[in-house]
Amino acid sequence: MAKVMDALEKARIYEKDRMVNDQTKPVFHVTAPVGWMNDPNGFSTYRGQVHLFYQYHPYSTQWGPMHWGHLVSDDFIRWEALPCALAPDTEADSDGCFSGSALEHEGKHILMYTGVAGGRQAQCIAVGDGINYEKLPENPVIDIHATDFRDPKIYRDGDCYRAVIAHRAEDGSGELLEYISRDLKTWEPAGVLDCDECKVGKMWECPNLFQLDGKPVIMLSIMETEANGRELHPGNTSVYLVRQTDGQRDGTARSIDYGLDFYAPQTMETPDGRCIMIAWAQSWENHLTPKEFRYSGIMTVPRELSLHGNRLRQVPVRELDSYLRESAQPNRGRVFDLRIEAETSDWFSVRLASDGKRYTVVHYDYIRNTLTVDRTCSGSRRDALHSRMLDVRNRNGKINLRILMDRYIMEVFVNDGEQAFTCLLYTPLDCDGIEYDGNQYTYKAVKYDISIKED
Ligand code: FRU
Repeated sequence: MAKVMDALEKARIYEKDRMVNDQTKPVFHVTAPVGWMNDPNGFSTYRGQVHLFYQYHPYSTQWGPMHWGHLVSDDFIRWEALPCALAPDTEADSDGCFSGSALEHEGKHILMYTGVAGGRQAQCIAVGDGINYEKLPENPVIDIHATDFRDPKIYRDGDCYRAVIAHRAEDGSGELLEYISRDLKTWEPAGVLDCDECKVGKMWECPNLFQLDGKPVIMLSIMETEANGRELHPGNTSVYLVRQTDGQRDGTARSIDYGLDFYAPQTMETPDGRCIMIAWAQSWENHLTPKEFRYSGIMTVPRELSLHGNRLRQVPVRELDSYLRESAQPNRGRVFDLRIEAETSDWFSVRLASDGKRYTVVHYDYIRNTLTVDRTCSGSRRDALHSRMLDVRNRNGKINLRILMDRYIMEVFVNDGEQAFTCLLYTPLDCDGIEYDGNQYTYKAVKYDISIKED
């Protein structure tokens, strides 16, 4: 009998043959070569380079049996696609290789992910050299016969490995189970990581644990969240909690990003000690990707995180700066980094990707201290969610905005990164006007073009 081509080889050939490389792709944001992409996975350094994997279904622009796509970068901005790293091809992951994380140890790149098989979710390990990964014959290495038990975050702790894994508790809500291992093959339970103060939703996904400013921070992506004013929006929401400060808990779950398209962030630490986050810039419930696109899913720009008090701040990685050139066209463009300082005693707005009829607007209202981003008129023909409002800090009518636009994705950083708002806009690329408006206002704007071509 002829040997059936294995699933990984098939995916690698397919993505090479069908690679999309056209104007539908953003210039400096990560996308899959072809097909569907969701969560970032295995964001890590290995042999001095940054590796990023992602949930991947190369064969269509819809979610399907999950593979791990793979990219590498020297600076978080210019990425090279590597061959697909994992395919659902063993008994432990025959229905999909779900999200997980990675670390470098003793020259090896270790991936920990959730294998899905017959409705059961269990944890698996693959070890590799930065291109090819071998799944352990012991997989699954953690199996509690659960249907909602996924997205392991692995890290080193002394001579051991530890993993925290999201699990659906008996009451239907989320919890984090901790495990410990010396050899990656045998794992012992190490308890339930206490985050029961976070009762805002149901099942948790994609946990991250890290230290910022010496404080332990947890990031979670939460399903079936109930809205909490304008702080948390309903549905799938990504939040952070600063765990303990001087023995005191600050259990307030706050939004990481207030935008329409942001989920499943992952963080990693750089060799120079920075904490960098990347997320899937899409929402599970609003897929707006145009039908003619041959890929779906864009990642956010990698962002540097810091803590001010117990509040997260995020700004695009500093590596972006070397790709900026002050623009000769301050009021046009679809790939740029725009810095605006405005002051108003009433309102101020900027319309982007505009041809007068189609546009997406960022509107600051001083009286209510709110910022609204609205893509209703972006050219969309879908009855989906197009606008969201957030409360901003009162700075006596002053606001600064940094807007990164990359064709179909826009990221707004408010007041030096105190808040962020990510959204997709599928407006035709010839709509490229930038228009300012307001009442009782003044503003200053500097626009930089971004080019990642080698000079
Ligand atoms: C989050 C998520 C993860 C899961 C993956 C499947 O967006 O649902 O919990 O591992 O996507 O693709």
